[in-house]
Amino acid sequence: MAIQATEQGWVLETHATGYALGLNQAGMLVHRYWGARLPSLSDYPEAADSLGWASFNGPGQVLREEYPGHGGVKYIDPCLKVTFADGVRDVVLRFAGAEVHKHELALHLRDEHYPLTLTLHYRVHPEHDLIERWVAATNHGAEPITIERIWSAQWHLPPGENYRMTHVTGRWLDEMHLRRETLLHGVKILESRRLTTSQQHNPWFALDSGSATEDHGEVWFGVLAWSGNWKLSAEVTDFLSTRVSMGINDWDFAWRLQAGETFTTPASLAGYTAAGFGAASRRLHDHIRAAVVPHPQQLRKVLYNSWEATGFEVNEQSQTALAEHAAAIGVELFVVDDGWFHGRNSDQAGLGDWWSDRRKFPNGLAPLARRVNELGMDFGLWVEPEMVNADSELYRAHPDWVIHFPTRARTEARNQLILNLARADVQEYLITKIDRLLSEHPIAFIKWDMNRNASEPGWPTAEGEQRELWVRYVQGLFHVWGTLQARHPQVVWQSCSGGGGRADLHILRLADQIWPSDNTEAAARLAIQEGFSQIFPASTMEAWVTDALEQQRSLAFRFHVSMCGSLGIGAHLGRWSPAQRKEAARWIKLYKAVRPIIQFGDLYRLRSAQAHPFSALQYVSKDQAEAVLFVFRTHLPDPITLPPLRLRGLDPAAQYTVDGCSGPRSGLAWMQAGLQIDLSDFESTLRRIRRVPHH
Ligand code: DGJ
Repeated sequence: MAIQATEQGWVLETHATGYALGLNQAGMLVHRYWGARLPSLSDYPEAADSLGWASFNGPGQVLREEYPGHGGVKYIDPCLKVTFADGVRDVVLRFAGAEVHKHELALHLRDEHYPLTLTLHYRVHPEHDLIERWVAATNHGAEPITIERIWSAQWHLPPGENYRMTHVTGRWLDEMHLRRETLLHGVKILESRRLTTSQQHNPWFALDSGSATEDHGEVWFGVLAWSGNWKLSAEVTDFLSTRVSMGINDWDFAWRLQAGETFTTPASLAGYTAAGFGAASRRLHDHIRAAVVPHPQQLRKVLYNSWEATGFEVNEQSQTALAEHAAAIGVELFVVDDGWFHGRNSDQAGLGDWWSDRRKFPNGLAPLARRVNELGMDFGLWVEPEMVNADSELYRAHPDWVIHFPTRARTEARNQLILNLARADVQEYLITKIDRLLSEHPIAFIKWDMNRNASEPGWPTAEGEQRELWVRYVQGLFHVWGTLQARHPQVVWQSCSGGGGRADLHILRLADQIWPSDNTEAAARLAIQEGFSQIFPASTMEAWVTDALEQQRSLAFRFHVSMCGSLGIGAHLGRWSPAQRKEAARWIKLYKAVRPIIQFGDLYRLRSAQAHPFSALQYVSKDQAEAVLFVFRTHLPDPITLPPLRLRGLDPAAQYTVDGCSGPRSGLAWMQAGLQIDLSDFESTLRRIRRVPHH
């Protein structure tokens, strides 16, 4: 059984990990253990009692409370902070019962004086070695309670170590750079205050004791599944107790929990592995593919996107011409990006008016969609539903629908303002307009974009606390998108926010794909994709071949980079020579042959593109019968001897062939002795690896 109650408390086990918590003598719910699964339940340590009490050494510094509320003499970064109606701001939670179901545990806590209860929820995912946690707070009284912070989980690491934290940072056009830093005494905060997950940081962490590598060593890792403002607090106490808390950002946040109401947090998922950062990524990849995305078993199609080719110059002729080229080289899904809707000739007008521009499409989108289908491709469309241009029919009719403070100027970014998706009328408008688009056209794919972050976060007509906006907006977004998804379950959605601004396990419940960056230059993309791959599987990673730096990057190099994810084309195919289109057709054909391995297999990062100009990654099918190796060289001054590449993930006893290498050789030989690949600057190679069948 995955969850067991014992006299010591509860033990949550996955295939390879164990997590234990329990009540100590003082009745406090404390963390007991998180790491490798132990042989028997009695092996898990007991709930510790509070030691080291002194007026300046509170129990919060030593004890590992599972979900600390603000109060008493703890002084640590708590998970819960509330103000009761009488002004009291101290929470005293007492254990009030537990419910165990096969994979789920609910622990009930009750404030000893006020009518506030809290349920700590746990769900184990045994096959992915992950534990999911979230919290629900209920007001059983007659007066409101103001929640000022309510995080999803606090994850405790074995105490006494100086841990190193790995996370990603970036900016627009340059997302997902890996950072590694030692956590010292104090609190390290990562967060988003932008309304979206953000390009700057991502709610993901990996902690190790400083010596873990891609393939070896203990790593504790986790994510928050939330597409709005979030916060990660990594704290090392005076007594070297390390904990990582994650949840909705409490910055500019407050929530009036009215009588009888419940507030439920998003989930945080975390795991442990003894096999390095690569294994941590593979756990998340497996989980996302199996349990998060809407269409788990579907291969992602090779798509074409018009943005970098035609920009706002979108019309029936330009798109038909592109579609004909795309179909001829093997594209399966043709997506018309920005520029197709009413009044949209530049980024200065049109957002909000979600019907086709009659000047560009005199007979609407139907003839183009039909032509695309006749060419054997699915038809897809770009939308940016959350936004409005001041120059639009929608804004002229409803200037009060945007997020704003009445006494402040409305800051525009990319000439646009943000609709207040917390409002029911805004939600209804968007559902109606996009539902009509989806109902009237054979649309198989929607790219949902979001091209700015929040400013002047006001909601003048809110009935209660305006600072609820940050959360109610995200709930509204999920209501709109979720309604559309339920009405049109066959549609595949892509999450885009000027690139990777909304990449997280929350949005992946709606979207099967993510656009990781607006930067499509292949060498830069290698690094961005590597950061992205720490968290997300290749099936979710849309990657276009474009004309960025086309003179310096061969078509092969550009294709190889994009083939590491869900392949797309974003170049102007009409400007490609017949020879280039022929070459593209060959790469697309090859991609289709290997994509089950890339999209559904295990990823091994052999050499980091962020750390080395000579990098490699390998995808291995789950049955270890086939693999694909990608090797890249960017700029390295010659003369240089490139190191051998040691493959990973093969069956050591089986025999394998590698394209272009002598063999066959044993999996062990390829993994231990490796293989030599020599490349020049900005050259790359793709090698198929096949297991030799037994006779
Ligand atoms: C930002 C996206 O990331 C691009 O791919 C493109 O869709 C533009 N927006 C269109 O405005």
